[in-house]
Amino acid sequence: MSLPPATTGPATAGHDTTGHGGGVHAAWLPPEAFAPLGSRRVLVRGDGMLVDTVFDEVERACAGHGGRADRTAGDREVDLVLALRDAGPLPAPAAALARAAGAGGPLGAEGFALARAEGVTVVLADAPAGLLYGLFHVVRLGAAAFEGDHPARRHAPAMARRMLDHWDNVDVHPVMGQVERGYAGGSIFWRAGAARRDLDRVRAYGRLLAACGVNAISVNNVNVHATEARLLTGRLGDVAELADALRPYGVRVHLSVTFAAPVVLGGLPTADPLDPAVRAWWAAATRQVYERIPDFGGYVVKADSEGQPGPFTYGRDHADGANLLAEALAPFGGVVHWRAFVYNHRQDWRDRSTDRARAAYDHFAPLDGRFRDNVVVQAKFGPIDFQPREPVSPVLAAMPATRLAVEFQVTQEYTGQQQHVCYLAPCWSEVLTFAPWGPGGPTVADVAAGSGPGPATGGGLAAVANVGDDPFWTGHPLAQANLYAYGRLAWDPGLDPIAVLDEWIDLTFPASTVGDPALVRETLHAVMDDSWRTYERYTAPLGVGFMVSPARHHYGPDVDGYEYSRWGTYHFADRDGVGVDRTRATGTGFTGQYPQPWSQVYESLSDCPDELLLFFHHVPYGHVLRSGSTVIQHIYDTHFAGVQQVAQMRQRWRRLAGVIDPAVHARVAERLDEQLRCAIEWRDQVNTYFFRKSGVPDVRGRAIH
Ligand code: GCU
Repeated sequence: MSLPPATTGPATAGHDTTGHGGGVHAAWLPPEAFAPLGSRRVLVRGDGMLVDTVFDEVERACAGHGGRADRTAGDREVDLVLALRDAGPLPAPAAALARAAGAGGPLGAEGFALARAEGVTVVLADAPAGLLYGLFHVVRLGAAAFEGDHPARRHAPAMARRMLDHWDNVDVHPVMGQVERGYAGGSIFWRAGAARRDLDRVRAYGRLLAACGVNAISVNNVNVHATEARLLTGRLGDVAELADALRPYGVRVHLSVTFAAPVVLGGLPTADPLDPAVRAWWAAATRQVYERIPDFGGYVVKADSEGQPGPFTYGRDHADGANLLAEALAPFGGVVHWRAFVYNHRQDWRDRSTDRARAAYDHFAPLDGRFRDNVVVQAKFGPIDFQPREPVSPVLAAMPATRLAVEFQVTQEYTGQQQHVCYLAPCWSEVLTFAPWGPGGPTVADVAAGSGPGPATGGGLAAVANVGDDPFWTGHPLAQANLYAYGRLAWDPGLDPIAVLDEWIDLTFPASTVGDPALVRETLHAVMDDSWRTYERYTAPLGVGFMVSPARHHYGPDVDGYEYSRWGTYHFADRDGVGVDRTRATGTGFTGQYPQPWSQVYESLSDCPDELLLFFHHVPYGHVLRSGSTVIQHIYDTHFAGVQQVAQMRQRWRRLAGVIDPAVHARVAERLDEQLRCAIEWRDQVNTYFFRKSGVPDVRGRAIH
């Protein structure tokens, strides 16, 4: 197996970010992050492709840092043993340690245990993937992996599937481009209608994913256009190549398919899920996929959603549709991720009875219990569409007999498009730890992990990917942290997002590569920790959402941009008040989709959390929030504060000039300038809009236009 090219020298010498092929930023795997491991005597024991990957990693690290890598246990002394449990005898004292680490039963398909005593660290796994994750755990621990004693500790992912969905097009789409909602250049998989075949880059990507815990990707956009449809059949070879490149890192490939495939690819007159010829077509097509890609993960489907074809055309429902594909995948162990993002995207804004927030629940909750067990219903975390602030989708509490996956958006469509710093892990953590049945009860993470109140096994997490062919992977270098944190939270949703940020800082900016490690850490925390809330402050207020520019692909403010549109995302501001009445008493009844206590909490004007007030209620500008401020004053205050915080972020960042890689510094500095410009625009448009609507002046007399 060939490893991806080693990237970059010490950051202070400058990461080579001028191009690709050695010039791609190393993200959280710079060579220096391997120094503690690479300077040790390491024994790798076991067989299998992923164990080979582990050995190759160790060998390369040792070559770079003066250590020694072995695959056979001689009587030489070792500092670190990475072993499969059944790999045969280990040298003492590793053998005793391995027994201790392995005590307590099987470690699972991806789990591992780590222990350290008498100067030897042992990582034990039952399966090769576990050893790979164990290796990257050792890298994360750094020097600490080789210090003191570590009592045996077992690690296993909370979610079996930790997936990224690439919204990459094969052809350049006339409106959406090469990557739909992509903010990091082109696709690393496709270019202008063809496979890119830059497999070094794909392998490097797989390696980054393994190091943060992601184990599945879908390689094309959920909006499946004509060329992309053919990935399932005529162009399957392109998918197989990606699968081959990613397999050594334990990443399985999935494919977005069109529900109309039997018609558009198979020439059948119908795609009716109950038609025997349609079922036979899917069975045959799927068999061919598995002949080519034996570990193929399965299909992702966006059906009857924003113009994509689906079962409604044939008078069938989503269970019929999903089960059709599930039946074809079942013999091979594949799954279908069936998205719950189904709503009327041709709404009349005059129609106050239709509420987009209700749609996923209304369509899917009644189908609970009807899905085959290899169907995963994939629901966006909130009821609308990846806004900076939404309540948790009630679907996640309404389908106890269905495997549910929670969908996040790592790509920052509505959170600054990788121009703005917006560290999203605190938002995801809030969602994952939210307890839909009340405090102390099962959480959203439990539901996704399969330990929720219902009998269903979990569907895991999925998220829209944020990488492209940009030398920094993510356009904004600090947006790498979102990708890293997504993987880590999918592995362990209980992690503290700020501690995850520390991991990312340690790996991405190793102390040996920066001028002043303490200043780097302090600055990154100052800039990133609260950046999601800062973004929230200067954009749409109090959970009302949108107000983004339709003309500029959702970037920047346009308060009424969607107000008189067909998309169902309204704020209903008038001279008296703002917000969407989603109560049972006087509104759309959406609050009734939640179990208690939330159903009542959200219904109640006085109990509803401030940050979600305008999502659930239409209130006068003078309404007093739980914080004590009025709605209108809160709008002014948060917008002034948000801009001030961005200005401070920019100030702080300047102090890192000459301290970190100049290319990283310059790219971030440039984007902070843009973030400040854009935040000012948001502040002034939102404040001015509400001042003009309400006529209520700012009590602090600041400039509103
Ligand atoms: C958003 C996004 C679209 C995307 C859709 C989806 O609406 O703007 O580009 O296709 O979500 O999740 O399918």
